[in-house]
Amino acid sequence: MTVHAAPLPAPDEAARAHSARVVARVREEIAGGGGFLPFTRYMEIALYAPSLGYYVAGARKFGTDGDFVTGPELSPLYGAALAQQAHAILQATGTQRIVELGAGSGALAASMLNALARCGGPTLSASLVYSILEVSPDLRQRQRATIAALAPGAAARVEWLDRLPQDVDGVVVMNEVLDAIAPRVVARRGDAWYERGVAWKDGVLAWEDRPLADPRLLSIARARFPEAGDYASEINPAAEALVGTLARRLRRGALMIVDYGFPRAEYYHPQRSEGTLLGHYRHRSHADPFLWPGLSDLTAHVDFTAIAEAAEAAGMQVAGFATQASFLLGCGILDLLAATGAPESLAYIREAAAVQRLISPAEMGELFKVLLLARGDAAWSSLAVTDMTHRL
Ligand SMILES: C[S@@+](CC[C@H](N)C(=O)[O-])C[C@H]1O[C@@H](n2cnc3c(N)ncnc32)[C@H](O)[C@@H]1O
Repeated sequence: MTVHAAPLPAPDEAARAHSARVVARVREEIAGGGGFLPFTRYMEIALYAPSLGYYVAGARKFGTDGDFVTGPELSPLYGAALAQQAHAILQATGTQRIVELGAGSGALAASMLNALARCGGPTLSASLVYSILEVSPDLRQRQRATIAALAPGAAARVEWLDRLPQDVDGVVVMNEVLDAIAPRVVARRGDAWYERGVAWKDGVLAWEDRPLADPRLLSIARARFPEAGDYASEINPAAEALVGTLARRLRRGALMIVDYGFPRAEYYHPQRSEGTLLGHYRHRSHADPFLWPGLSDLTAHVDFTAIAEAAEAAGMQVAGFATQASFLLGCGILDLLAATGAPESLAYIREAAAVQRLISPAEMGELFKVLLLARGDAAWSSLAVTDMTHRL
């Protein structure tokens, strides 16, 4: 997700009215909770409440006229590069399925399908199934339209799932999904621990802390937070549980997770004492999670160590952990770029600018990571140039 830091444009009247309905719903739940709503529940409402939430109520979200741009939206070469790794895994494990969670606009599916049709040969093209699990009904429609427009030859290979299958053989892909799963927010002040949440104060939504009553969350926070100093950060049991479930159900193949985040030591670095929550609105990032609920995306960075541990507890192994830049270069994104046309052609220049954003350390190259998780011995290897599994 790339954004700019600049003043936020004001929403129009209809959008403000929509946000007011979301706020009304949040206030109902605050009242039902005795004046307090845990942040995790607030974020679930703001993003996913039927007909209200950011991801389900028709906001434009992705692309230049939306709120943020993701890797697959920047260039089809991103999906083409991921397809190189997916192809290696499908071949080595004798599997023929890709399951994508949270497929957004459908751009990643379209570009991976096109690339797999090129590199997979007739056998894979004839047998490949691309399954999408998407919680948002309006995004399902958008995905269908994108795939029909950009990968018409492969549209028949795509199916939409209502729930995760009991057994999965193949490659499970999640691009910027875990950052959109609502975390719990915990704070320590002095010796006291709190769960952070939302209250209605002086006519607005505002932070409110309550003593942390969940012993499991408390012991996780004690283990992960730095030893000293006032500190607040996120812990994401729902994201960890989702990966645990995926890991248990994956019989053969791999999980491929791309997102922005850090290994644990960096995530809970003493200087990151206010956590990683961010809002995204019209290509601006902002730090106020209560700004225009329902119109603004909300995210938290990913603790990749926690995600790796959740998969390992379900019997999977880390097969690679790398920066996005290292991974895309290892997947041959520069060769894919060279194949787009002559260096002076418009197509090449456009794609070169996108690849620059994807791999530049100042943009997405370093903050974004790729985590590959394998069931059993990986007969395939991570294509990343530099593996940094030791940092997890
Ligand atoms: C930031 S968007 C990323 C979309 C897309 N993968 C991309 O990179 O452009 C987050 C996506 O995750 C989806 N999502 C959130 N929670 C999910 C879950 N538990 N299972 C499947 N998808 C989920 C959202 O509906 C949305 O499509």
